Amino acid sequence: MIPTVVNVRLFFKSLTVLLFSLSLVTSSVAGTIPPRAESQGHGKGELPEPSPRRFGFLLPRAFDPIDIIGPLDVLQALSRQTHLELVLLARTLEPVTTEPVSPAMNRFNSSFFPKFVPTHTYADNPPIDVLVVPGGPVSRSPDLEPEIAYIKEVFPSLQYFVTICTGTGIAAQAGVLDGHRATTNKAAWKDITAMGPKVKWVSPARWVEDGKVWSSSGVTSGIDLAFEFVKKKYDNGTAIANFIAGNMEHVIVSDWREDPFADQFDVPPSN
Ligand SMILES: *[C@@H]1O[C@H](CO)[C@@H](O)[C@H](O)[C@H]1NC(C)=O
Ligand SMILES: *[C@@H]1O[C@H](CO)[C@@H](O)[C@H](O)[C@H]1NC(C)=O
Repeated sequence: MIPTVVNVRLFFKSLTVLLFSLSLVTSSVAGTIPPRAESQGHGKGELPEPSPRRFGFLLPRAFDPIDIIGPLDVLQALSRQTHLELVLLARTLEPVTTEPVSPAMNRFNSSFFPKFVPTHTYADNPPIDVLVVPGGPVSRSPDLEPEIAYIKEVFPSLQYFVTICTGTGIAAQAGVLDGHRATTNKAAWKDITAMGPKVKWVSPARWVEDGKVWSSSGVTSGIDLAFEFVKKKYDNGTAIANFIAGNMEHVIVSDWREDPFADQFDVPPSN
């Protein structure tokens, strides 16, 4: 099944490239300038591109709940101010547990793992503007092939790609962070950075923005990343972010360099 799907997708990708080239030819023939894929400088209050509307959250087994629920809570509040759509992605439509697969990662045989209900599978490949990849025990799983394949597949079409905590390690394994600046949980720095030798790892950093790639440090830093995202990517974003933070009673860390955990975990500063 999969090779067929890949071939069909390849065919459509080639077709898209061909049509795009044709449109470039026709528009230059017609003397018009094709629209720029990315605009750069922009003044205050003027957004360079449409605000993202469709958010996909990756739900691999054994993710850390806050990595998903933290940013999701901020965005849910934003969705009361502007139209947003939520997509929860997993391997199947079965509820996904946060329980690690390996009993070694649940030494006390606890039953303390909620389940989350996906809306779509990776194979559905629904249209999304932003993908959020969480971390947690899952980032050390040896069985991440479906997640890595999906991230590789969807990355080029995304407006933004966001990793939270050790989710950066999952993304690094997919190769999509190669050459990008990124950060991750300082308590897991050595293990996670080893997953992406071609990533430009940044520390200290509560989060890092590098074009379409946004990555956060440990768990709750994803909430501050989400607030920064709201500030930068939505009309009236700063006022809305402050309004949401007030309701959540969250003190936003608004300086991305404010990261006491780099020191705490002896992570050497990067350039
Ligand atoms: C772990 O707990 C479950 C119930 O939650 C129980 O059925 C199972 O026997 C326990 N396993 C061990 C190894 O104690
Ligand atoms: C901006 O957002 C704040 C908080 O939601 C709201 O009070 C204010 O009216 C908004 N301003 C504009 C111009 O939309």
